[in-house]
Amino acid sequence: MDFIMDYAQTFVNSSVQLVNAYPLMASLLLALGTVGSARYCYRTLSVFLQIFLLPGHSLNRYGAKKGAWAIVTGASDGIGKEFAFQLAKAGFNVFLVARNIELLNATATEIATKYSVSTKTASIDFAKCDEAAYEALSAKLQGLDIGVLVNNVGKSHAMPAYLVDTPKEEISDIISINVNATLRVTYAVLPGMIQRKRGLILNIGSFAGAIPSPMLATYSGTKAFIATFTSALAEEVRHHGITVEHINTYFVVSKLSKIRKASVLIPKPGPYVRSVLSKIGIPCGAAWSGRPNTSTPYWSHALLDYLITVINSPGLFISYTHALHKDIRKRALKKLERESKAQ
Ligand SMILES: NC(=O)c1ccc[n+]([C@@H]2O[C@H](COP(=O)([O-])OP(=O)(O)OC[C@H]3O[C@@H](n4cnc5c(N)ncnc54)[C@H](OP(=O)(O)O)[C@@H]3O)[C@@H](O)[C@H]2O)c1
Ligand SMILES: *[C@@H]1O[C@H](CO)[C@@H](O)[C@H](O)[C@H]1NC(C)=O
Ligand SMILES: *[C@@H]1O[C@H](CO)[C@@H](O)[C@H](O)[C@H]1NC(C)=O
Ligand SMILES: *[C@@H]1O[C@H](CO)[C@@H](O)[C@H](O)[C@H]1NC(C)=O
Repeated sequence: MDFIMDYAQTFVNSSVQLVNAYPLMASLLLALGTVGSARYCYRTLSVFLQIFLLPGHSLNRYGAKKGAWAIVTGASDGIGKEFAFQLAKAGFNVFLVARNIELLNATATEIATKYSVSTKTASIDFAKCDEAAYEALSAKLQGLDIGVLVNNVGKSHAMPAYLVDTPKEEISDIISINVNATLRVTYAVLPGMIQRKRGLILNIGSFAGAIPSPMLATYSGTKAFIATFTSALAEEVRHHGITVEHINTYFVVSKLSKIRKASVLIPKPGPYVRSVLSKIGIPCGAAWSGRPNTSTPYWSHALLDYLITVINSPGLFISYTHALHKDIRKRALKKLERESKAQ
């Protein structure tokens, strides 16, 4: 204890000597320190305000309850299905897109009976580079007053794997679905939004876009594309009254994540989508780390995201993710082995 007191005394004495010897330098350092901590406090406070208090844009701004349509890709399951239900509840007619038409039609019927809105469905396999299918989808979208587009459809790897061990087809499917579909559907919808001078485009991204994720390298890269594409497009169409937002998502319970149990950090699609739709235009921390037009709307995802940006050491998170994915792959392979033995 004495040793610590002595040390503190020496520190204070020598600091006082330094301040006396170099008053200008000392005041400068003090001022810098104060500005630095004030900025840090201000940021932290604003992140908390955004996450817990500030409401997002009203959906009425994008045509809710006025007969406008919301298009959702990947709308028959998981996060996309939840978007379809909640946008219908908010007063949009909904247009559901995915592969399985029976499932889409069943979902559409459920929505139309629960909420008094119109529904439409279209089947397309975004993994196939099918020009005719895209033309047919575009034709169905023409003439509709589209207020909202949710580019939700997404595919990840069947299990973590090094690039050299990833099937070629899986790589191209992930790119066609995550990148091409986002571009093509946006391209089909945007001219009408520009004409009507209103629109909301939500592009569903992932933490894997910000944290390069070894053994999911292709998926991770496509999600980084989503983030950068969103920022660029947002600036292009801002003056047309169109909002484009990248939704930064950590795990959510779904088939894609293969997670079945909700927890503090992993919500079910219901609460997740409610957070997205209640925080339109509010970055919830993402703006501080140079990611314009990104929002991390779910509260625990936003706190985690803020912590990651404050720690600011990408190498640490990349090697953590690598170790995690090695482990997940090992367990996934064991499970496959057990299943093949059981047959
Ligand atoms: N869940 C998570 O933890 C998580 C985390 C970060 C980001 N995300 C992102 O959130 C988005 C939605 O994910 P999710 O977890 O809700 O996925 P999901 O439960 O697997 O649902 C995927 C939806 O997309 C459709 N779909 C799949 N392949 C398709 C294809 N080739 N062509 C057309 N439609 C197709 C599926 O219907 P059909 O099979 O009938 O086509 C289904 O409606 C994705 O962009 C994903 O990257 C999810
Ligand atoms: C799905 O619904 C559309 C109308 O909304 C209908 O034209 C189509 O035949 C239905 N398809 C199936 C397979 O049920
Ligand atoms: C994806 O888009 C690129 C660029 O337009 C195109 O060359 C490629 O064929 C597309 N692939 C698929 C599978 O749609
Ligand atoms: C995109 O982000 C920029 C910078 O934060 C902001 O000024 C602009 O309003 C945003 N645009 C849209 C369309 O949300």
